[in-house]
Amino acid sequence: MREESISRILERIYDETGIVLSRATDRSRIGRYIDNGGIIPQPYDPLPETLIHLVTTNETYFEREPYHFNFLMEEILPKLDCNGDTADPIRILCAPASSGEECYTIALRIEESPNKFRRRIEIVGIDISSEMIERAQRGFFSERSVHALDKKRLERYFVHERDGYKIGELNSVRVRFQVGNLFDPLMWENLGRFDVIFSRNVMIYFDHKKNRELLERFKAHMDGYLILGHADDHLQAREVFTSIRAEKGMIYRT
Ligand SMILES: C[S@@+](CC[C@H](N)C(=O)[O-])C[C@H]1O[C@@H](n2cnc3c(N)ncnc32)[C@H](O)[C@@H]1O
Repeated sequence: MREESISRILERIYDETGIVLSRATDRSRIGRYIDNGGIIPQPYDPLPETLIHLVTTNETYFEREPYHFNFLMEEILPKLDCNGDTADPIRILCAPASSGEECYTIALRIEESPNKFRRRIEIVGIDISSEMIERAQRGFFSERSVHALDKKRLERYFVHERDGYKIGELNSVRVRFQVGNLFDPLMWENLGRFDVIFSRNVMIYFDHKKNRELLERFKAHMDGYLILGHADDHLQAREVFTSIRAEKGMIYRT
């Protein structure tokens, strides 16, 4: 009975979130969750947040893989700003955003850019973990999260509060966060279309089939540039998108 419940939970996690949990340690992790009284979701119940928390890795920090932000600022945004209609905002999606550091890295780069953009810029961050999205919405970050920011940037854009840093108001860019599952078609319908999608360090948790599904979904909801983390599925991205050589590695275009 217990083994059956573990298998059913693992299947549902894979089907709904894409996360592959195939090792013996994954089974024992779910087993411990059941033994400790964790809710076993019925077929039509959503996956409990504690389960989502158990199976996701939320590691992130400001200025992670910074060459992507250089490329965004130097190549992508100037082009989009020149070519698009001033009435339409440039829309950037971070999917997944975890606790918000990637979105705010982009926002800070834009805020401090000497380049004044004609078009408004909107950044949307989504993540399956409501705990991470609540953190992102609070805009409060640990010492570890901000370790790659120099003192000048910390003093200028953050307020130091006891054990961390609270980000202040930004003038040139709007950032918003929402809970969302990358494999939920309804979420994509509601999000609308994007000019740039950052999807870094999540495909490593999915398999070939789910990565293909995700890349096709990105393509259907964007007209512009896709940026993946260095360990994500570049082989399939090359098949679905046009590749562009950047400072380090590849960026993709619809
Ligand atoms: C390692 S973090 C990456 C964060 C950020 N993109 C970065 O590179 O720093 C991976 C995030 O993916 C989220 N995640 C995993 N599966 C997801 C799914 N199906 N839909 C949305 N978010 C998901 C996790 O909750 C976690 O916060």
